[in-house]
Amino acid sequence: GNTPDREALIVADGTSIDEPIPGAPGPVTHGIPVVGASFADGAALAAPGSTAYVQVLPAETRSDYNVIAELPGKNTENVVMAGAHLDSVIEGPGINDNGSGSAALLETALKMAELTPQNTIRFGWWAAEEQGLVGSADYVNGLSAAERDRIALYMNYDMVGSPNYIFMVYDADESTFEAPVPVPAGSEAIEDVYESYYTKVGELYEDTEFSGRSDYEAFILAGIPSSGLFTGAEVIKTEEQEAIWGGTAGEQFDPCYHEACDTIANNSMHALEVNSDLIAFAMLTFAYSTESVNG
Ligand code: PHE
Ligand code: ZN
Ligand code: ZN
Ligand code: ZN
Repeated sequence: GNTPDREALIVADGTSIDEPIPGAPGPVTHGIPVVGASFADGAALAAPGSTAYVQVLPAETRSDYNVIAELPGKNTENVVMAGAHLDSVIEGPGINDNGSGSAALLETALKMAELTPQNTIRFGWWAAEEQGLVGSADYVNGLSAAERDRIALYMNYDMVGSPNYIFMVYDADESTFEAPVPVPAGSEAIEDVYESYYTKVGELYEDTEFSGRSDYEAFILAGIPSSGLFTGAEVIKTEEQEAIWGGTAGEQFDPCYHEACDTIANNSMHALEVNSDLIAFAMLTFAYSTESVNG
C-alpha cells in the first residue's frame, strides 16, 4: 500500500544516511531534505530489512513584502537608512522579536515626517528575517551600484525591549569581538553615537558581537557602514549584569524568545522607552550630518 507517488528514497540498505549536507535546511537523507524527520528517524529507516521510504514533499513558495518609506532631504544623494524586521517566527506573535524594533522605527518615521532633513532618510521593515534574512538580503542585492553608493549608513533594530534586558550595541569597532566578516570603515562612528547617548542618559551598555545574525548582514557585505542595538535573546543573564541592569540572573534576556509567550506582556517598558528615544536620536543625528561616518 505504501507506494510513493513521486520521488522517494529506499533507505533499507543502511548506507550513510546521517551525513548532513553543509547548509541544507534540516536533516537530510542521501542529500534530500526530510520533512519532519530527525537523524534518529533516519537510523530506524535504515535498519537492515526495512522497506520504509522517505517521501519528499513539494517545496512551498509564497510572496512576502518589505515595506520601504523614504523622506527626501535637501540632499537626495546621501541616504541614511534604518531597518527592523516585521516578521516573527510561526511559533509566536513576535512582540519583542521584533514588534519592538518595528514599532520604535515606525514612531521615529512618523515624527521625522514633520521635518525636512538635510539628508534623505529611508526606513525598511523587512520581510522573512526569520527565514534567513531574506527580505533585507533581497533588498540590498537588488540595488544597483549607484543606489548602494547613495546609502551613507544603515542602522539595525532587532529586539530592543527584552523583558530581562541589558543594553547592547553591535561591536562595529571590534573592540571586544572580532567580526566574522570585514566591517565597513565608518561603522564605529555609528556605535559611538549610541554609546555616547547611553552615557548621556545615565545608562550602561555592553558590546555585542557583530555576528551577522540579523538584517544588517547584507549591508555590511555590501560595504555600507552599519551598527545597531540589541537587548538580548536566548543568552542567560549573569550576576554582574543583574547588578547593573536589574532583572534576573540565571534567566534568558528574553525568556519567551521564539515562543508563543512573546506577547505584548513580553517587553521591558523601560528598555523600549530608552531605545525608542535613542533610535530617534540616532536618525536625527545622521539626518543632519553623516560626516563622522563618511568623512
Ligand atoms: N536575529 C535574531 C532573531 O530575530 C535575534 C538576534 C539579533 C540574535 C542579534 C543575536 C544577535 O531571532
Ligand atoms: Zn527571531
Ligand atoms: Zn529578530
Ligand atoms: Zn565596540
